[in-house]
This record gives sequence, C-alpha cells and structure tokens, in this order.
Amino acid sequence: MSTPTSSTQRSASLSTELADDVLVVTIDQPGSAVNTLSPALAGEFESVFIRVDEDPLINGVVLISGKPDGFIAGADIDQFPQLKSADKAERISKMGQDLLNRLQKLRAPVVVAIHGACLGGGLELSLACRYRVATDHPKTTFALPEVQLGLIPGMGGTQRLPRQVGLQAALDMILTGRNVRGKKALQIGLVNELVHPSILCEIAIDRARSLTSRDKQQASHLVRTSVPRGPVSALLESNSLGRGVVFKKARESVLEKTHGHFPAPLAALEAVQAGYAHGMTQGLATEARLFGEMAMTDVSRQLVFLFFASNSLKKDPGVPAPAPEAQKVLTLGVLGAGFMGAGIASIAIQQGTSTRLKDTDTARLAKGFSSIRNVLQERVVRKQITKRQLDDVMTLVGGTTNYSGFASADLVIEAVFEDLGLKHQVLAEVEPRMDTAAVYASNTSTIPIGRIAEVAKHPERVLGMHFFSPVHKMPLLEVIVTPKTAPEATVTAVAYGKRLGKTVIVVNDGPGFYTTRTLSAYMNEAGRMLEEGASIEVIDKALVEFGFPVGPITLLDEVGIDVGGKVQQVLSEAFGARMAASDAMRLVVLAGRTGRKGGKGFYLYDEDGSKGNVDQTIYEMIGGQRREFPPDEIVQRCVLALVNEAARCLEEGILRSARDGDLGAVFGIGFPPFLGGPFRYIDSVGVARVVEQLEELNVRFPPRFAPADILVEMAGQRRTFY
Ligand code: NAI
Repeated sequence: MSTPTSSTQRSASLSTELADDVLVVTIDQPGSAVNTLSPALAGEFESVFIRVDEDPLINGVVLISGKPDGFIAGADIDQFPQLKSADKAERISKMGQDLLNRLQKLRAPVVVAIHGACLGGGLELSLACRYRVATDHPKTTFALPEVQLGLIPGMGGTQRLPRQVGLQAALDMILTGRNVRGKKALQIGLVNELVHPSILCEIAIDRARSLTSRDKQQASHLVRTSVPRGPVSALLESNSLGRGVVFKKARESVLEKTHGHFPAPLAALEAVQAGYAHGMTQGLATEARLFGEMAMTDVSRQLVFLFFASNSLKKDPGVPAPAPEAQKVLTLGVLGAGFMGAGIASIAIQQGTSTRLKDTDTARLAKGFSSIRNVLQERVVRKQITKRQLDDVMTLVGGTTNYSGFASADLVIEAVFEDLGLKHQVLAEVEPRMDTAAVYASNTSTIPIGRIAEVAKHPERVLGMHFFSPVHKMPLLEVIVTPKTAPEATVTAVAYGKRLGKTVIVVNDGPGFYTTRTLSAYMNEAGRMLEEGASIEVIDKALVEFGFPVGPITLLDEVGIDVGGKVQQVLSEAFGARMAASDAMRLVVLAGRTGRKGGKGFYLYDEDGSKGNVDQTIYEMIGGQRREFPPDEIVQRCVLALVNEAARCLEEGILRSARDGDLGAVFGIGFPPFLGGPFRYIDSVGVARVVEQLEELNVRFPPRFAPADILVEMAGQRRTFY
C-alpha cells in the first residue's frame, strides 16, 4: 500500500499531489504542446487507479491538465496509421473503454477540472468522471471530432454522451464533430459547473470533497442526474418509438449531407442505437467493433492523411531551410474595400492587426466597413463574441481615399478589380509611400504576380496572397512567389496567413497559379458538356453526388460569371486550346449575366439571394438541344480535367509537392476530402489507369485530355505520388 504524501510524485505524463484527502492528478505530456491519450498514458493511469483503490486515505480525485490552455486534445493520432487490421483497432478501442470503465468505478469519486480544448478521448474521459467543472474561458471547448477523421468515438463516447446530455444533443455532437463552448456545455448538462480559470483547481478539490462527504444530501445536490431538456425532446427521447423517430431523422440528414460518402456518422448512429436497445455493455462492444471497421476504411485513411498533411504544413515556413525570421505584421494596409478587401480586413482586425483600408471614394469605404461589421455581427449572433468586443475590434480599422497611414504598414494587400492596368497603377502609387521593409501582396486570382510586379521598384518584396471567398470562412491561403520574391517576404506572408488561421500553401508563379488553374479546367469541362447538350442540373447533381460541395455551374454563379469570363481569358491566352472557353460560356458572359450577385445567372435568384430553379432562357441563349448525358461521363471528364491539370502544376514546379496540391484542392476548391485530394485520387485509381482514361478521352476531345508528361512517365515506371 502506498503512503499518502503531500510531495509531488511524477511518472512520464502524470504527476500526483495530495491536497489532504484529495489526490490531484495533473496530466502534462512532456515535450508536447497538448496532451493526447496513448497506450503509454493508459498504463500511467492504471498505476494511479491502483493507488487510489488501495489507499484508504484518498477520498477523492481531481484530474486536471498541466498545459496552460488545453485539457486533452484527443487520442494520439500518430498511432492510427499503425493500426493494420480492424481487430487491432477494435482491441485499442476496448483498452480505452476498459480504462474508462475502471475510472468510473474507482472507489473514490473523480472530479475533472477542464480548461482549454477537451476533445475526443479527452471528452470521453471527462464523461466517465463523476463531476465536471470547466472554465468559462473562450478557449474551453468540447467536441467529439472523430467523424472528421472518418472514425467514431471509441472510448465510450457513443454511450456516455447520450446518457449525459440526451439523445439529440449527443447526436448533434457525435455526427458532426461540432465544437461546444462552455456556456452551451453547461446548458445541455455536459458539464456541471463553470468557473473562472483562477479557481478551477480549488473548486474541483472542494467538489471532490463534497462528493465524498458522508452527507449524502449534499452530494446529491452536486451531481445532476437528469438532463435539462425541453418537453418535446424529453417526450421524444423517453420511449423507443420517439427515439426511433430521432434515429430515422438523423440517418436521413446524414445521408442528405454526405451523399453516402462518409460511413462513420452512420456507424456512430448504429453504436448509439445499440446502447439504447441492448444496454451499455452491448453498446460498448458495438462501438469498439465499428471503431475497428471505420479505422480500416479508405475514407478514414484519406482524412487522417489530410490531418497529418495540414499539421506538417503548419510547421512549414514556406521556404527551404534555413528560413529567415518572419517580420511581425502589426499594421496592415488593404487596397480596395470591395468583397475581398473587406473580407481580409475583417479577419485581420480580429487578430488584433491595426488595418487601413483604401478605396477610391468614401461611399465604397462605407460599404466596406458595413461588410466588415456584418462578418463580426454574425459572430455576435452566434455568441462567439460580445457586442462590446465587436465595437472594440471595429476601432482597429480605419479608412482612407489617399493612402494616408500606409507608411506604417508592414504588409499591404491589394484587392482592387481584376485588371492588370489598375493593379499596376495602385502598386506604382503605393510603393514609394511604403516602408522599405514592408511586403506587397496582390490578391489577384489569375494574373501572374510577375506581370503585376513589372512596375515595382522592389519586386523582391512583391508576392501573391490569394484568399478565397468568403474570406472569413474559407480555410486556404495560396501564397504565390516569383523568382524575384525574397525569402523574407515569403516567410512573412506565410506566417501572417497562419496567424489569420489559414492553411497556407506556397506555389510558384504562373497564370491561375494552382487553384484557379485546376478549378478552371474542371469548370471549363462542365461548360463543354453544357454545349454538347447536358442540362445544368444534371451536371451540378453529378458532381455533388461525386462529393463536391456544390456543382460547377452553381459555383460559377457564386464566383461571378463575369469573374469566370476574365479568368478564362487569361488562362486561354496562356494555355491555348486546352483552356479555351466553350461557346456556351462565352455567350453567357457576353449577355452580361453575373450570377448570384446580379440576381441572374444560370439559375434564378430571389431578392435575398437564395437560389431558385435553372433559368430556362439560358438554353435559348446557348442554343442546341438538351439530351440525356450519363452522370458517369460528366464526373469522369470534369474530375480528370482537374487532376490532369494538377499533375501539370506539379510537373512545371508551380506546386512544391503533391501534399500541397492535395491540401490546396481540398481546402481551396472543394475537392472531396474523402478522396484525399487530386494526387491521392490518382494514386488510388492507379496512375496507369488514369493515363489510360485520359488517352481515351483525348481521342474524343483532342488536345484537352492529353495526359501530363509526369503521369505518363510515372505510369511507365509504376511510381505513385505517395
Ligand atoms: P470588388 O469589385 O468587390 O472590389 C474591388 C474594389 O476595388 C472596389 O471597392 C473598388 O472601388 C476598389 N478599387 C478600384 N480602384 C481602386 C483604387 N485605385 N484604389 C483602391 N481601391 C480601388 O472585387 P473583389 O471581388 O473584391 O475582387 C478583388 C480582387 O480579388 C480581384 O483581383 C479578384 O480577382 C480577387 N479575388 C476575388 C475573389 C472573389 O471570389 N470575388 C476570390 C479571390 C480573389
């Protein structure tokens, strides 16, 4: 039997300290910014559990993290690629479940003290504790993000969460991986109490003592047994018939959203359902079995790949070693207060960057300010920030029509109309006013940065920062460098992009860079099929069913048909017949339709901008007869056009790596994440098979589908991208 002591005892990640009769267990994984759960940590927990069960002087336990801003970020994902069989993955899940069952049954009650992200296995561990105290800090968030990796919670989450917060609230978290903040967590009964971070440990110790107190009444006050739910929810969830309705609706909603491409949410539903139908033991067994099965799916492998790839990109400064130090961006200048300029300013000020916005007149500036306020207002409505924080953040942005204040900018981002002459004019105007160390970035979506930089006195400080719309939602930033761009400028743009919360890929300069170029090849093919007689809805539906978030023609309406027309012009000048616009597209551009923003595109739009049916007059405009078009052909032609263009970008050195190409396509242009990206897709179909398909198509549509040299070469050598 171990002797209780007030001195700290430490194993690799756990240290324990006695506060009288309460054992405080601190989790602090050495050498890592966050705590993760691993078999090694499970072993350490087991030793603590033995001590607690054997030591009669320990009457309560508090679990707390030693990290300043994180509780437990989930299971250690590094172990996943090593899970080579469903059986092995199932065993790992069972081990985790056993550990938490053991925790739940400890002789002394366990109170968990949560500050920072409490995710996946971290939340499952918390659910096995008797009482949960969390901080009311914005960094404290709860989620079961397993489905985002193609998995399901595997440590009892599918069983304990519904029992704790009710079926509907639990499904909402399990099926989406959604983050829940402190207040909401308290509301749904996920935590028992919210406190200020400064008293977290103290309160947790106090609660552990109260729970052990012989005064049963006091203890029962502390632990809430039933979850506060509305009368309708309570009624629905209290009987198997009502729950049947909830499960059916959840299943339908999953299928509608995923088009059947993601098996994990359905597996999670099955595990939850098994728990309700046959009890906890059977529920846990089903959960472990399905966890094992999910870990072996291609979808999970691709999503785990994307997770690792994004992480490796986070550590990538954007230039080869040794990378120079990035310059801090304290003040930002933005040229153009339009759609993109205002979007960029809205995320910059939220990171505390003092921002100057320049446009040609005050009316346009005012419009820009109002767009920025709208972005922030959306966050107020979602209760992510307070009205007061909105007002504070708005004080960070100022407007000008004459470049005043631009001398102090560390970075200037240009987002004026897509017109080379205008881009030259503003660069020439602002450059002499800028600090000699400041970086100049264009947000152009197509024009080569080298062309824009032709008028610069210091082309070494010019690069592209290509944001996607809407800027505050889209995760990608494509940084474009020319042969003249200095590494100092690149690392500054990359570091600032990361600060803005973006996934940043660095690409070399060229018309359309990477994302616009591949997306255009894909959209252009859709235009060709429209010309050949395919209907608009049939094209869009085929690609949505394939896994894109919206179809290519809807996307063109969103981006703006006028914008698409300009892009096409630049790209067809650069790449000739391969990228030449279809007559159908040319006619719609000429007709002056702009898409959703103008209320009329390929589809009709309500006054509030919501999309209606296809505008049938489009067919008169483009001529020709509509005919049956096989969805398989639509998918094959659009997707192969895209992946072939991606391969060319790698071959030409526009892309630094296949990894960047995959992340860029998934996060920037909506390539289906469960396929991992264009290069992962080529690998899984087989390089030789892709070449064969391209050659077949190229016989019908020369020269658009001529396979990229790199593909032909790799097929000959039986090489793969990964
Ligand atoms: P926009 O038309 O909404 O805004 C352009 C703004 O530039 C207008 O407010 C205009 O008054 C202002 N402007 C014109 N001349 C100026 C000058 N001399 N000084 C300062 N401001 C001036 O256009 P949007 O959509 O914001 O596009 C801007 C740039 O971003 C373009 O290069 C476009 O290709 C690129 N881009 C657009 C995306 C989109 O989805 N709209 C996506 C990614 C890049």
